[in-house]
Amino acid sequence: MTAPGSKPVESLFVVGSGIMGAGIAAVALTKGMQVHLYDVKDTFLEKGVETVNNHLRKMASKGKFPAADLEKFTSALKPTLTLDDAANTDLVLEAAPERMEVKKDLLKRLDEIVPPHALLASNTSSLSITVMASVVRDPGRVVGIHFFNPVPSMDLVELISGAHTRPEVLEAARQFSVKMGKTVTGSKDYPGFVTTRSIGVLINEAIWMLYEGVASREDIDTAHKLGFHHPMGPLELADLVGLDTALSILERLYTGFRDPKYRACPLLVQMVEAGKLGRKSGEGFYSYPAKG
Ligand SMILES: NC(=O)c1ccc[n+]([C@@H]2O[C@H](COP(=O)([O-])OP(=O)(O)OC[C@H]3O[C@@H](n4cnc5c(N)ncnc54)[C@H](O)[C@@H]3O)[C@@H](O)[C@H]2O)c1
Repeated sequence: MTAPGSKPVESLFVVGSGIMGAGIAAVALTKGMQVHLYDVKDTFLEKGVETVNNHLRKMASKGKFPAADLEKFTSALKPTLTLDDAANTDLVLEAAPERMEVKKDLLKRLDEIVPPHALLASNTSSLSITVMASVVRDPGRVVGIHFFNPVPSMDLVELISGAHTRPEVLEAARQFSVKMGKTVTGSKDYPGFVTTRSIGVLINEAIWMLYEGVASREDIDTAHKLGFHHPMGPLELADLVGLDTALSILERLYTGFRDPKYRACPLLVQMVEAGKLGRKSGEGFYSYPAKG
């Protein structure tokens, strides 16, 4: 029982305690898994633990588990500042910033620490699993497990099979995702997979329509909400995701496919250059005045 994927996932080592890492950790705790949560600085980790606890409280208040279990789950989380604590884990799930050099460095270091049966997974929303896996001794144990934000309430996991990912590794990742309560779809390892590619194109096309004067921002968003039952319009979504993030997704699609259909609209480029990044900067396609 030493090959990666030969053992069901009962313990999880989450790398990065930000938006996604904290959400993944919270859900895993409620499924009875042993969960380590790693970050690089104690202040980041403290914030991450607070986010996990907020998720857990919210899940309890929504009846996702009995309120009597709240204390058990919050105290089961093992925050850590050392990767060495991944020595006994069944699955590493990295949710570090979306930069290839950061992910490669982490996987290379973790490859030296994790037990032989452990899976190495990334929550990346657009980077190549195959390239990431190139730094570990056995690239067949690396897989993409792409959760959605907010993790406790989003039902999907997109599983990404890298060029070397072995079937048993993919199957173990699928079983883990089902255990996390998610519905699983698969994608090969091409830029943006299925979901990020689609949303990148949709957001870009909406910006092109605004740029070309086809319709107002309100009409573009309302058309998508009422015409397609989208919960928010593509320009509102771009503001939520962050215009810089939207631009980097498009750049990844453009360079990855070498196809001009992914060319980012000049309006998007200019807004990012001007620091109009959406909600996080207070201004994007809409304005978000500071509260208080
Ligand atoms: N936010 C989303 O909506 C979303 C959705 C799906 C997937 N993702 C993907 O999940 C990953 C994490 O995104 P996020 O939104 O949670 O980011 P985030 O910025 O909220 O969190 C990243 C965390 O990683 C930590 N970190 C920084 N450098 C590190 C390092 N060298 N080693 C370990 N941890 C480090 C940071 O301190 C931070 O806590 C990215 O790959 C992103 O593309 C994000």
